[in-house]
Amino acid sequence: MDKLIVNGTANLKGSINIYGAKNAALPIMACSLLSDQNLKLNNLPNVEDINSMKKLLYNFGSNIITKKRSIIIKNNRVKNKLADYDLVRKMRASILVLGPLLSRFKEAKISMPGGCSIGTRPIDLHLFALSKLGAKFKYKDGYVIGKVNGTLNGASIVFPRKSVGATENSIMAAVLAKGNTEIINAAKEPEVFDLCNCLNSMGATITGHGTSKIKIKGVEKLYSSNHNIISDRIVAGTFIIAAILLNKTFIIRNFNTQNLDSLFNVLEKMGAQMKIKSNSVKIFPSRPLKGITLTTKPYPGFPTDLQAQIMTLMSVANGKSQIKENIFENRFMHVPELNRLGADIKIKNDVAYINGNRQFKGAQVMASDLRASVSLVLAGLSAYGKTTINRVYHLDRGYEKIEKTLGKCGPKIKRLT
Ligand code: UD1
Repeated sequence: MDKLIVNGTANLKGSINIYGAKNAALPIMACSLLSDQNLKLNNLPNVEDINSMKKLLYNFGSNIITKKRSIIIKNNRVKNKLADYDLVRKMRASILVLGPLLSRFKEAKISMPGGCSIGTRPIDLHLFALSKLGAKFKYKDGYVIGKVNGTLNGASIVFPRKSVGATENSIMAAVLAKGNTEIINAAKEPEVFDLCNCLNSMGATITGHGTSKIKIKGVEKLYSSNHNIISDRIVAGTFIIAAILLNKTFIIRNFNTQNLDSLFNVLEKMGAQMKIKSNSVKIFPSRPLKGITLTTKPYPGFPTDLQAQIMTLMSVANGKSQIKENIFENRFMHVPELNRLGADIKIKNDVAYINGNRQFKGAQVMASDLRASVSLVLAGLSAYGKTTINRVYHLDRGYEKIEKTLGKCGPKIKRLT
């Protein structure tokens, strides 16, 4: 299994261009199943989760042509509606094919995703929403089997809790349902917005996306389209935090900075020096930094996907910081590993207490989940000495080969395979 050797006290200079968001690309690739015509997608990231989604689609019979960062998907010969354990185990977002399969083909059989390292991550909200539209479910041998008698029918879906994936699944199911659907307490994430824009460009009639009340008028068919995936705000946020941690002047380009307002608010409170434009941000040396208290929340709140990275920064800020993790119940797997690198963080229930003024020192660590992995890379870059990060396959799920992306800007990171 690959490991990364990170040389500490890294230099960082120049700028970095942000690539497409995998969390936008995954549901959008899944939505291609709703039509028998070509869907061309541009600005795809070159990451493992995208490869896993391609494998899943191939398995259904999709025809996919890949050219650099673009793909053309055609689903005119879907023969199989089964997502088996091996595919779903590698990527929980596989559940996003459930809505499209049920809507267009009236049947789907998906392996139950089960728990993962950041929590139990159930799918009850997905099934709740699709049941409202008329789908019926049963469980057999670790699979959830969905069926639709006749067609799905528009309905009012009132989510008891916010879920990005369940919102996306219900939107995708509702666009071809008969009649009108209203989704209340919908997720407002930019990636949900991007999915709706893509579906509208294919002929769907969705309004209200970007708010917590989404309205959909069912249509009979979706058509060919060409869509550019939005840039990855989490990758952008990760590199912004890296530059501040390394105390350098650095530019992060090619993403919508509005989508990261919550991060900029937090960084401003910590004392970071930044010049924010609409599509780029310039970071300036910003020491000393101040500790703060924050809570992760659904968008537009502070994203759970930047929690591990900001915790790394808090470890070098002056004074104490606190993070309450509100989205996932077990998303502190990086804490013992950051402590091995010299941080001083304690966890009580869903709150992490971070004592600042620490200097990271290189050590051997183990990557547990995607964002935890990248927080260890950041800590390693600012550490004295060498850090070895074991089991980096999680990192490759969401970051393009980080040793190359960052390597062009100064840091020395080596991959051992
Ligand atoms: C998506 C993102 C992930 C991000 C998360 C929260 C993708 C591919 N992944 O994941 O990177 O960390 O949003 O911003 O876009 N829940 C239930 N029942 C359900 C579904 C979810 O209880 O049926 C819970 C989850 O366990 C979690 C919370 O709801 O505690 C939010 O999860 P959700 O928004 O659904 O996250 P994902 O869509 O899986």
